[in-house]
Amino acid sequence: MKPRNIILYLTLAVLVSTGLLLAGCETLKTSKPILPLKEYEKMIAGRLDANYIGTNNCLAACHVHDKIKQDFDASTMGVQLSKKSGMPLVDCESCHGPGSLAVEGLTPEKVAEDAKAGKKTACDYKTLIDIRNLPAQAKSLICLKCHTANATFNLHNWNAGTHAISDVSCSDCHKLHGGSDLKVKPTEIGEMCEKCHLETKAEFALPSHHPVPEKRVFCNDCHDPHGSTTDKMLRKITVKETCTQCHADKEGPFTFQHAENMEDCRTCHSPHGSPFNNLLNVPGPFLCLQCHAGHRTGATTTEENRAARNTRCTDCHSTIHGTDLPSASGKGRFIQ
Ligand code: HEC
Ligand code: HEC
Ligand code: HEC
Ligand code: HEC
Ligand code: HEC
Ligand code: HEC
Ligand code: HEC
Ligand code: HEC
Ligand code: HEC
Repeated sequence: MKPRNIILYLTLAVLVSTGLLLAGCETLKTSKPILPLKEYEKMIAGRLDANYIGTNNCLAACHVHDKIKQDFDASTMGVQLSKKSGMPLVDCESCHGPGSLAVEGLTPEKVAEDAKAGKKTACDYKTLIDIRNLPAQAKSLICLKCHTANATFNLHNWNAGTHAISDVSCSDCHKLHGGSDLKVKPTEIGEMCEKCHLETKAEFALPSHHPVPEKRVFCNDCHDPHGSTTDKMLRKITVKETCTQCHADKEGPFTFQHAENMEDCRTCHSPHGSPFNNLLNVPGPFLCLQCHAGHRTGATTTEENRAARNTRCTDCHSTIHGTDLPSASGKGRFIQ
């Protein structure tokens, strides 16, 4: 190939790849625009020509939403915010926006007429905030206007958390009208999370796993779904602290530590699940042989020596997480 042709091809290649890159940026930009906060605020203000009329006036127009109202009254938000509580009232319009336009023209006569014609009266819900089709940030802002980090302590890290950043909103997890319980029931947490986290679901199906499917350990024991200061939204500052909440016997400090390995349990364990016993990343001796050479022992038969070299290191090194007791030679070799 002539040098001129090479230059031509190179130029073409550069042009094409820049084009592709730019096209890539374009789709990133249009699919996930992050807007200034005030834009989201506008989206949740509702129609400016509508007025707030109160839950009772909303619901008196027709009775389609009585069940939602009953559930809501029985919920924490409803109960704590009855007029008697003296706290700011939460009602339907706190989230759905002012409702006067929605019930305009809905008289008892119209409702009766509709019923006679076998129709269900519907309010003009298009004049309310279209919550379902809002961007995730705006959806969450509906909740955050009351659930500020000061009022709801566990939302301290929400804005910087992976979920907020990845367009997951409060109502993806909290079903506001699924019943009177606004919280996620502990027994339903695992399945709720796994709807989106299919890979994690597969890990918990492996032979050795934390008993999350058995509902004895829960995703939120280790993670804070509202975000945290750590990578992977862990509940504690380090992996080790997250684990030793329950496995306190592995915390140490021990007189003989297994070097810095113990600072991160993931050196040897897969937190969710593993095909190998004890949630190990790598089975049996191979785990140890990644970092150590096998060795002969005082055993007299070749059989015994081979066993020591290649298998079951933890049969003898049984206190592998650390120990206060020295080995026969006076060193820390996790024998007892
Ligand atoms: C704390 C905020 C909040 C309050 C208060 C609230 N809603 Fe909702 N509502 C929502 C959200 C969020 C959705 C959308 C749910 C979704 O994403 O599927 C919704 C959806 C709905 C729907 C659509 C149908 C459905 O079940 O999904 C109706 C109807 C409704 N709400 C009625 C009411 C009524 C009536 C009240 C007052 C008793 C009320 N809402 C109070 C947040 C709220
Ligand atoms: C108008 C104010 C307001 C809005 C808007 C609001 N909340 Fe609440 N919410 C409260 C108050 C007040 C309570 C009861 C006190 C508490 O538990 O903090 C509460 C309670 C809750 C609880 C139950 C807490 C418990 O311990 O039982 C959940 C969950 C919750 N809200 C989620 C949401 C979600 C999700 C949204 C948005 C769709 C939302 N809230 C919007 C004021 C509000
Ligand atoms: C990825 C799922 C998920 C998202 C997103 C999420 N939550 Fe939660 N939330 C949970 C789980 C799980 C719990 C713990 C179980 C429970 O108490 O409901 C919880 C608990 C809560 C509680 C009860 C707190 C307490 O101290 O008991 C409130 C209030 C709450 N969330 C509000 C919100 C608000 C507001 C948002 C949005 C800014 C939000 N959540 C986003 C899953 C989620
Ligand atoms: C509506 C879907 C949805 C639900 C429900 C959901 N998540 Fe997520 N989660 C995401 C998305 C999207 C991300 C962004 C990273 C990704 O794509 O994995 C994420 C990220 C995470 C991360 C950080 C992963 C990383 O690589 O940094 C953790 C940990 C996590 N979720 C835990 C949970 C837990 C625990 C629950 C249940 C309480 C839950 N999620 C429920 C969608 C969801
Ligand atoms: C025993 C503690 C523990 C439990 C229970 C747990 N996780 Fe994790 N999870 C972790 C740790 C630790 C990491 C970090 C793993 C890493 O970086 O290698 C992690 C990582 C993740 C990630 C990031 C992707 C990955 O695999 O590295 C997601 C998503 C996640 N967990 C979701 C969940 C969900 C959903 C549940 C419940 C069904 C759950 N976790 C239960 C400890 C736990
Ligand atoms: C909420 C408590 C809790 C937390 C936090 C927790 N575990 Fe566990 N862990 C358990 C329970 C319960 C079992 C099952 C014990 C049983 O079946 O007898 C278990 C079992 C194990 C096992 C043995 C598994 C087997 O196959 O027998 C290992 C290894 C383990 N956990 C490591 C960890 C690591 C690493 C972390 C941190 C990422 C962690 N655990 C965090 C509760 C917890
Ligand atoms: C150097 C590798 C290594 C590190 C690091 C490590 N483990 Fe282990 N762990 C093992 C091995 C190997 C076993 C299996 C022991 C056996 O075969 O008897 C085990 C077993 C376990 C068990 C189940 C049996 C028991 O002793 O209760 C738990 C729980 C456990 N580890 C928790 C942890 C926690 C928590 C951490 C972090 C603080 C951690 N491990 C760090 C290698 C390690
Ligand atoms: C990620 C690498 C790594 C893994 C995996 C690992 N170790 Fe270690 N181990 C170390 C380091 C580093 C030291 C400290 C070495 C030193 O002080 O000379 C150590 C120290 C030891 C010692 C004390 C050695 C001495 O000279 O005092 C023994 C015994 C030991 N490990 C056994 C094991 C066994 C058994 C396993 C498997 C269950 C294992 N180790 C897995 C890195 C590892
Ligand atoms: C039959 C019991 C036995 C088995 C099995 C065994 N060890 Fe040992 N190991 C010992 C004894 C005993 C010592 C010396 C302890 C002392 O210093 O008093 C030792 C010392 C060590 C040491 C420190 C001395 C050195 O050689 O550097 C390491 C590292 C070690 N073993 C790793 C392993 C690994 C990795 C395996 C599995 C492949 C294993 N051991 C299997 C009994 C055993």
